[in-house]
Amino acid sequence: MSEKNIESLLKEKRVFPPSAAFSSQAHIKGLDAYEEISRKALEDPEGYWAGIASELHWFEPWKTVLEWELPFSKWFVGGKTNISFNCLDRHLGTPRKNKIAILWEGEPGEVRALSYQMLHHEVCKFANVLKSFGLQKGDRATIYMGMVPELPVAMLACARMGVMHNVVFGGFSAEALRDRVNDSQSRMLITADGGYRRGTTIALKKSVDDALAGAPSVEKVIVYKRTGDPINMVAGRDVWWHEAMAVASADFPAEALDSEHPLFMLYTSGTTGKPKGVVHTTGGYMTGTYLTTKWVFDLKEEDTYWCTADIGWVTGHSYIVYGPLLNGATSVMYEGAPNFPEPDRFWSIIEKYRINIFYTAPTAIRTFVKWGDQWPAKHDLSSLRLLGTVGEPINPEAWMWYRKNIGGDRCPIVDTWWQTETGSILISPVPGAVPTKPGSATRPLPGIVADVVDRQGNPVGPNQGGFLVLRRPWPSMLRTIYGDPERYHRQYWSEIPGMYFTGDGARRDEDGYFWIMGRIDDVINVSGHRIGTMEVESALVSHPTVAESAVVGRPDDLKGQGIVAFVTLSAGNQALPALKEELKIHVGKSIGSFAKPDEIRFTDSLPKTRSGKIMRRLLRDLASGAKTVGDTTTLEDFSVLAKLREEEE
Ligand code: WT7
Repeated sequence: MSEKNIESLLKEKRVFPPSAAFSSQAHIKGLDAYEEISRKALEDPEGYWAGIASELHWFEPWKTVLEWELPFSKWFVGGKTNISFNCLDRHLGTPRKNKIAILWEGEPGEVRALSYQMLHHEVCKFANVLKSFGLQKGDRATIYMGMVPELPVAMLACARMGVMHNVVFGGFSAEALRDRVNDSQSRMLITADGGYRRGTTIALKKSVDDALAGAPSVEKVIVYKRTGDPINMVAGRDVWWHEAMAVASADFPAEALDSEHPLFMLYTSGTTGKPKGVVHTTGGYMTGTYLTTKWVFDLKEEDTYWCTADIGWVTGHSYIVYGPLLNGATSVMYEGAPNFPEPDRFWSIIEKYRINIFYTAPTAIRTFVKWGDQWPAKHDLSSLRLLGTVGEPINPEAWMWYRKNIGGDRCPIVDTWWQTETGSILISPVPGAVPTKPGSATRPLPGIVADVVDRQGNPVGPNQGGFLVLRRPWPSMLRTIYGDPERYHRQYWSEIPGMYFTGDGARRDEDGYFWIMGRIDDVINVSGHRIGTMEVESALVSHPTVAESAVVGRPDDLKGQGIVAFVTLSAGNQALPALKEELKIHVGKSIGSFAKPDEIRFTDSLPKTRSGKIMRRLLRDLASGAKTVGDTTTLEDFSVLAKLREEEE
């Protein structure tokens, strides 16, 4: 986040209380009710969470609400449940059985509406397909698809039988896919021939073939036909989705799983070069996503709800698939780009389906601002009653634009702070109760104990910057990092002893509102996607010409942050402009196009401390064009800095 933004956040004084009309119809009707629930949750957290979990279906009740032995938590211990059952079967005996569960629009324009009954039918059949290929409870399956209904079908089928799903975003390269398949030791890969994006097709199956050349754990590949583009089907390994489904039975009772049975893993970037498989389990994740979808989006039976995220990221897992379906909602899913065929695709979707709740990312909003007010103005957006944002801090100007141009100055905006690791939203306004301030995620949800502390864990005063931490376990928290419990402990529970370390900097204002300042570790947030600087560095040094590299973020008006890579070349290589392009493409191939550096700067050496640590702060200042470069007294070779400055000119 830029200096300018931080400054404007510090000055932001506007407050928007919910309208009386909104509050009176809301699940939580005002500040008093919110304070009362929060107080009770603080006094008796276990009673509070148990009350919420019991709104869902359990085959067997739990014996203990929480077993907490830092850093490991177990929730609803002894209870047996199934999240797929709760998303589907639970609604079938009610009038919801014929309600639309997933309302899908393809980029080329097709529409598919799957009722709860229909979705249940598909999921049961697909679970039988997985079973027929030998997949069993406890196995892992990687899913690498575009945004088609078959993606949630595959997830819910895995969940139904106790197979852990590992969804890999379709924008990841073959290499990144291979690493994730190998780390998860998946026996099965579920994919599509391709997907539609901005008028062209993306060759998913081609990446799968490349990835599987180095991923021996995979026995079967199931391929959904989406584009019809010619692909290679490997005999004995690859199977068409439609052929397998044609012979599958639609009878598949949901397994009664332990509350702590692993539900899914999802890889996310950290401070090392190796992405971590964040593990979520069944009962707690279910409770967290169920409750937050209902309260934060003030979801009602009649609502049509749309989250624009991709299911390849946690937002799509929790707020397109699980949260909405647990609530029996109609969840809209769109396959393609926001500017295809024109920059008003989102607004035309809102108008066409009379969408009531709309959840998107600040980076998207800033792009809409750039495209111009005329695009939303062409459409009737009066069906909207609530707006949300997620993924990065939103600058107040973008917030105000969103409120006026999309929300008609009428809709509350929920700025929702959470992470892949937290599973569900933790800090956000409850829209009928908590007045909003542009740029603030406001206050923690009931039951969540967030704080801003210094290195030692002491709370800092109002408006003092510090580390955002969580002081108590919550049901939807990650349980571990797949295959690396030690890293889990070190990363999240040791930085500041006794507390969950989020990696974010924040301040809390005089009203107790949280203002998230962004990452304080070596992670950058590009368009709401988390990218580890180390990952990009490893990708760069894997190129034969590169000796060393240091990657930093710099403020970017559209993406939040952009990527700048400082690169030193190994002997005999010349710093030519064409090499910059080649290196960008190389990073795209190792990770995915979204991780390509915006700028590459060649340099003779990198600024280091006497102990050999790269001085990233210095590089960050250089990359963002800041004039005053901070303390350099430990810099090993002062001439390096002067040279880097020169190269800028
Ligand atoms: C990081 C988590 C949670 C789903 C999307 C990203 C940043 C997220 C906000 C917000 C300010 C936010 C944080 C966080 N972030 N939401 N409302 N305001 N910052 O998931 O990839 O796990 O990234 O995104 O830095 O730590 P993720």
